[in-house]
Amino acid sequence: MSIRILSTSPLVGPALAELGARFPNLRLAAFRSPEWNAALPEAEALVVMLSEPITEADLDAAPKLRAIGTYSVGVNHLPLKACESRGIAVVNTPGVLTDATADIALALLLALTRRVAEGEALVRSGAWKGWAPDQLLGPGLAGKACGILGSGPIGQAFARRAWALGMRPLFWDRDGRDGEVDFGAGRAQRMSLAELLPLSAVLSLHCPLTDQTRGLLDRAALEKLPEGAVIINTARGGILDENAAIDLLESGRLGGVGLDVYDGEPRINPRWLQAPRAVLLPHLGSATVETREAMARLLCDGLGNALTGTRG
Ligand code: DGY
Repeated sequence: MSIRILSTSPLVGPALAELGARFPNLRLAAFRSPEWNAALPEAEALVVMLSEPITEADLDAAPKLRAIGTYSVGVNHLPLKACESRGIAVVNTPGVLTDATADIALALLLALTRRVAEGEALVRSGAWKGWAPDQLLGPGLAGKACGILGSGPIGQAFARRAWALGMRPLFWDRDGRDGEVDFGAGRAQRMSLAELLPLSAVLSLHCPLTDQTRGLLDRAALEKLPEGAVIINTARGGILDENAAIDLLESGRLGGVGLDVYDGEPRINPRWLQAPRAVLLPHLGSATVETREAMARLLCDGLGNALTGTRG
């Protein structure tokens, strides 16, 4: 019997099992394991994670493929043009991880500026000698400008959080639009990157990784930020020149970098592990129970529609 759905992982919640009940012959196999490779030629639908890049060669090896579902909103690991030209549907999970991802960006911002990890480590070490006037000071946020790259739902959700902290959101959009963004709690100006960077005491990345945004924050761009600026990246590692960011952290030019994503993750540039004023998380943006269940539901509904030829 043909393998209708080949998933590299179980998903959170019941949605994948329910999809398997609807379309018999769902196989679980680790990405690029011998079992996965052997099942690929028969697969009609794939389920992959954001860390599992699918190539055109995989599409060649899967002539029955009708849909690829990714358990993520990001689709930079999929060969989108090749899928389109072969009529293979791509299903992702927009909308349902907006708040969770904006929350993790906020967590990084506060952890970095209020030195949460260092404070926790100090208490756990047993070396804390008590309150001191200059202990673990960090920059305040109220009244400062917060540059946001990407004015889509996650960028806007982060703007609401920055606004609640008393910051002034500013937006840059990859489509070059200008004018104001109504982000739900207020309005903020869209501007060019050249205008936005020198104003941004905090810079938070919320745009997808595309040919246009790869390497967007190179050394020259980072040097346009104000002295002591803080960068938060919950989008994709490839948007930021990591070596340049580490150089500027080491020189004291940047005030801090908070990362949830890395270029080439889960491999991490070893310089991050020694970098000063960096907070590093293991890609937790969508990691709430409710969000992962909702992502699974959206993904499985989309795959079901693609396999039955109905529109979502
Ligand atoms: C996604 O789903 O693409 C996000 O990176 C989650 O953090």
